[in-house]
Amino acid sequence: QPSLVVAVDGTSGSGKSSTSRGVADRLGLRYLDTGAMFRAITWWLLREGIDVRDVAAVAAAADRPRLASGTDPLEPTITIDGVDVSVEIRGEEVTAAVSPVSAVPEVRARLLDLQREVIGAGGIVVEGRDIGSVVWPQAEVKVYLSADPDARAIRRTAEQGGTDVATTQQSLLERDRIDSGRATAPLTMADGAVHVDSTHLTLDEVIETIVALAAQAR
Ligand code: C5P
Repeated sequence: QPSLVVAVDGTSGSGKSSTSRGVADRLGLRYLDTGAMFRAITWWLLREGIDVRDVAAVAAAADRPRLASGTDPLEPTITIDGVDVSVEIRGEEVTAAVSPVSAVPEVRARLLDLQREVIGAGGIVVEGRDIGSVVWPQAEVKVYLSADPDARAIRRTAEQGGTDVATTQQSLLERDRIDSGRATAPLTMADGAVHVDSTHLTLDEVIETIVALAAQAR
């Protein structure tokens, strides 16, 4: 089914990226990381010296940078004004600023258009917070991925090669709080979404679960 769209939403650190890339690779689909787009805008605002807490300034700047997403699940990329910032957007400064920036409606409106353009003809796994609810409610497969805060913090800390699980957990929960509480397109379980709790599942088991859902949707 070349038009298949798989939407994977969920909390921070629930394993959306590894899972979505794995599913796309298994099914021969493209992959779009919408979180990377919000991170890239945030990185650009910080570089421009724009105060990310100044909603009016962020709103006014939202249309300025040129963004492009590479959709190969084995090597996803994000470029802003032609510069690949795939590595830079994972830094602590961006992570701390991205949720307030993502709550600004003008930022969401700008990225919504770009996201719908990329999703277009389908054949893609899309991960984010509002894909099944707002960006592409007609997705054939919708997943809401979650995991216990402890499991998420331990996994994310290990991923980053760190040791401070408590600080990592605080940062994940703070992002969840802002992402779930914002007025525009908050994180929520979309109508028709299947809830997958990955706390006691391996990555391969989560991927298998979603591949099976996609097979049913065909
Ligand atoms: O997925 P990731 O953790 O990289 O996303 C970073 C941030 O981008 C989220 O915490 C959220 O604030 C924002 N985001 C969003 N809507 C999406 C994807 C990400 O608001 N669809």
